Amino acid sequence: MSASKTGRLEARDASVVFRSGFGGRIAKTALRDATLGIGGEKPSIVAVVGESGSGKTTLTHLLLGFRSPTSGTVTYRGVDIAKMTGGERRVFRREVQAVFQDPFEVFNPFYRVDHALFTPLSVFGIARDRNDARAKIETALETVGLRPGETLGKYPHQLSGGQRQRIMIARALLLDPHIILADEPVSMVDASLRSTILQTLLRLKEEAGISLVYVTHDLTTAYQVADTIVVLFAGVIVESGGAEEVINAPRHPYTRALIDAIPSPDPDVPWNLDAIEPGEGGNGIPGTGCPFAPRCPFATMDCARAEPALAEIAPGRHVRCIRPLGGA
Ligand SMILES: Nc1ncnc2c1ncn2[C@@H]1O[C@H](COP(=O)(O)OP(=O)(O)OP(=O)(O)O)[C@@H](O)[C@H]1O
Ligand SMILES: [Mg+2]
Repeated sequence: MSASKTGRLEARDASVVFRSGFGGRIAKTALRDATLGIGGEKPSIVAVVGESGSGKTTLTHLLLGFRSPTSGTVTYRGVDIAKMTGGERRVFRREVQAVFQDPFEVFNPFYRVDHALFTPLSVFGIARDRNDARAKIETALETVGLRPGETLGKYPHQLSGGQRQRIMIARALLLDPHIILADEPVSMVDASLRSTILQTLLRLKEEAGISLVYVTHDLTTAYQVADTIVVLFAGVIVESGGAEEVINAPRHPYTRALIDAIPSPDPDVPWNLDAIEPGEGGNGIPGTGCPFAPRCPFATMDCARAEPALAEIAPGRHVRCIRPLGGA
């Protein structure tokens, strides 16, 4: 394992407000006061789970520097990514890589997939020559379980979704990243390949010392691969902690509802976080305070008064609820 992968990426009290309408009068807070760190001395996998629209991709884009926080900061190696020098930015661009949901969109359909693999090597000047580049590419493809001879020379449409997704992971690996942000990397892939790709991500942590943010709306796969689970609801972190504790002893009613909604113990059956409808189980409590109150079976009028802060209830264990559930 590489002992030198020490890059740490941190969002601190980061919010993203989208403005639309005439003069930007309509404001939508996609993410609010998000604090989250990944990487550093010990590699780990942080799963960010939440239903559609909860702010997962917004958080990923923030961590990648694709979007600036409206307030708060994102730092890499302690430097605000909005204020990096050219050299610092280059290190950041190399050490923090992304893998997205739909691998087809990333490929240029007119180029063989080789192009997507050679380009980052030449942009970052990593390979000594073409032979060295080819050797590095072959190693990266093998790491993700692809046979170079069957992969190189192909056009994107000649490969399956699972193969394209693994090429994207190989592409990220070529840059020897410290951190990979994977936004729904397996949601477009069928069940049989899903676990293969997740195993690959797990191996990257264990064998290459790479830390990952794994974004998903599937709590089952989050539990399978993650050390830490962060639960997002309506743009705020409502709960976080060790994967075991969050799943086995959820403290936020939303997390508990998610776990109760898992239809099948079969990890290959994807499970729909959007199953819990607004109003379902709620006590008619308005969402003027806690945003989950209208859907919360435990809500009382106290919940309507003010939004709870994210409180540390045990070391590394956070919950945003005025009356956290009892735990185990
Ligand atoms: N460019 C934008 N302009 C305005 N609103 C946006 C923009 N991008 C996202 N949003 C809104 O911000 C919220 C969070 O969106 P985001 O894409 O982060 O959710 P998500 O958790 O990734 O959802 P999904 O599971 O569907 O991918 C949503 O309400 C979305 O409509
Ligand atoms: Mg998304």
